[in-house]
Amino acid sequence: MAQASALRDCTTVAGTDVLQWRRQQLALGGTAADLDWLLDLAAGLRWASLQRLLLDPTRTVALEQSLEVLSELWERHLHGNVPLQHLVGLCPWRDVLLESSPAALIPRQETELLVDLAMSQFKATPPARWADLGTGSGAIAVALARAWPTAPGHGVDLSSDALQLAERNLERCAPHHNCSLHLGSWWSPLKSWWGSLDLVVSNPPYIPSAVVDGLEAVVRDHEPHLALLGGADGLDAIRTVVDGALMGLSPGGWLLLEHHHDQSAQVTQLLRDAGLVEVRAAADLEGTLRFALACKPAASS
Ligand SMILES: C[S@@+](CC[C@H](N)C(=O)[O-])C[C@H]1O[C@@H](n2cnc3c(N)ncnc32)[C@H](O)[C@@H]1O
Repeated sequence: MAQASALRDCTTVAGTDVLQWRRQQLALGGTAADLDWLLDLAAGLRWASLQRLLLDPTRTVALEQSLEVLSELWERHLHGNVPLQHLVGLCPWRDVLLESSPAALIPRQETELLVDLAMSQFKATPPARWADLGTGSGAIAVALARAWPTAPGHGVDLSSDALQLAERNLERCAPHHNCSLHLGSWWSPLKSWWGSLDLVVSNPPYIPSAVVDGLEAVVRDHEPHLALLGGADGLDAIRTVVDGALMGLSPGGWLLLEHHHDQSAQVTQLLRDAGLVEVRAAADLEGTLRFALACKPAASS
């Protein structure tokens, strides 16, 4: 845990004290879901244990962090808009607990679906080689490395701080991985493997510049703008990734992209214009078209 590492031994606390503390913190602001997330990730009080406590406040609970430290973290979240993931240095994502830091975007839930799309596209046979362009925390690379531990993979990012975080996450969550990390811009560091990538996944920065000021402070002021900003129409990075696809993908290889909630028509058109085929859009759990998939023609060189 980044800021809350002082105390990891369990302390037994009366349930009534924890519940009173919880009521006091919620009176200051924020949501119960966020506060309970903090209790879980920072203090080890799992959701199920909290529910048992709510039913029977006479119980005692073991906390891995003092209520004083938890109060300080909650205060920094409420008044400094610091993301809880940065405060505890962790982010649960898919089936892993990733390290999280201001070096990279906090992995989002919708991006879990991008990984699901990749896996269903390669259900029968794993890709011979894959890449994650703009790997950030390494979340996608970790998921792909865990799914296909022997297939060589590549994570690329322009931020060396993000790559260091991705390296730690690969070691932590996919210790037997076969993924190499590369500093540079999109396809450039992968020149040696151009034409042999069966799968390229990317969640690039796609927020239009004009939208940034309107983002919530917890995002705008604490997540790297390199991970967010996609230029005037939000499509700068997507255009570069799509433009390189015929060159980088293997014949029959797939490109899977995440994009902003209102970019589906533009992104699918960019994919067609680039000469890719089997272009389709896919929706997130709310039904919003947030992903685009396309394939390099098998006969194309
Ligand atoms: C939206 S974040 C995605 C991070 C991670 N893949 C995820 O899904 O949580 C975009 C990532 O692209 C990286 N990036 C920005 N410009 C880049 C470039 N020119 N070449 C490679 N990566 C870049 C950022 O540093 C950031 O880590």
